[in-house]
Amino acid sequence: MLTDNFGRQISYLRLAVTDRCNLRCQYCMPAHGIDIVDRKELLTFKEMYRVTRVLSELGVNKVRLTGGEPFVRKDFIKFLEMLSFNDKLEEINITTNGVLIVNHIKELEALKVKTINLSIDSLDKANFAKITRRDVFDDVFKTLEALERSSLNLKLNCVVQSDVNTHEIIDFIELTKHKNLAVRFIEEMPFNGKGQRSMKEEWNYNKILHKIKSNYSNVTPLISDKSSTSHNFKVPDYKGSFGIIPAFTRTICDDCNRIRITSTGIFKNCLFDNGVFNIRDFIRQGANNDDLKQLFMSIVKQKPENGFIAEANRNNDVSESMSTIGG
Ligand code: GTP
Ligand code: 5AD
Ligand code: SF4
Repeated sequence: MLTDNFGRQISYLRLAVTDRCNLRCQYCMPAHGIDIVDRKELLTFKEMYRVTRVLSELGVNKVRLTGGEPFVRKDFIKFLEMLSFNDKLEEINITTNGVLIVNHIKELEALKVKTINLSIDSLDKANFAKITRRDVFDDVFKTLEALERSSLNLKLNCVVQSDVNTHEIIDFIELTKHKNLAVRFIEEMPFNGKGQRSMKEEWNYNKILHKIKSNYSNVTPLISDKSSTSHNFKVPDYKGSFGIIPAFTRTICDDCNRIRITSTGIFKNCLFDNGVFNIRDFIRQGANNDDLKQLFMSIVKQKPENGFIAEANRNNDVSESMSTIGG
């Protein structure tokens, strides 16, 4: 078992399979001049498989694959097939921008993939292109509709950006009227690769909820998992639901069950930490699975009680992009 110094059990790995992305969302990446990691620096899929296997023997039963955009890495589907053989994993989930997956949905349904979190910040083609700096709305929306018809669970991630997409909040809620999906509105965080906290932090949880409640008088709260990032609600009689992720105004630290590994093998106990260990170098220096187990058991002890406060106390310049952390 992987237990930290505050009695929290670690059962959820977020694994970033690449730092690359085929979009350039304004809040995540600058338009140009991104340092792309050399392929040799990336963990290979074999190494990722092994690390996941070892972690699953220590109690990790849920893996979320992130990026960058996971589907831009060659042979990602083959990796999913490998991972699906791991009988200790109960769910494999993926966070994706959906540009490349419409033809893979059947394959995903046949694997252990349970939920797709699809990033989509606008339902308007022109606004989508402005936010992502790429003109691919039609492909993403096709993916959305195909996923909704599939057997996979579907969550939409919408990062709420002042003066950019706040006028679309109600359109997103209306999408849940006939579609069986959960829209999650995310407070924007300062992980934009620009080295500064640039946003105004105006549209926080309360303001988003207030906006929705003033349009719908009968919003009902749903019971959520303790470790859920979102507070969830529903408009009665609507097929789907919605949630708000208060990324900035509260944290889920008390019930956090997560660890992260970046595409270059940096182990992170927290979204907000700088990384405590390079797993890749450890493996390439010849560590066996027992060594890896010992290592994981010892480094989770460094998990901060509250990552958000720990980060604020370090007074870091937040220059990393979400695409290298994997969300
Ligand atoms: P599930 O709970 O597995 O559905 O996933 P999720 O909502 O955590 O994952 P997703 O990749 O869709 O991320 C949604 C948003 O939640 C992103 O903006 C993440 O950065 C944020 N998020 C994910 N994990 C954490 C965390 O540990 N702390 C905080 N504050 N935010 C997080
Ligand atoms: N603030 C909040 N969410 C972000 N994401 C990426 N960058 C940010 C940010 N600066 C979201 C993506 C994706 C998820 C993993 O994180 O939209 O859905
Ligand atoms: Fe790519 Fe996601 Fe970052 Fe957008 S938010 S640039 S889709 S990694």
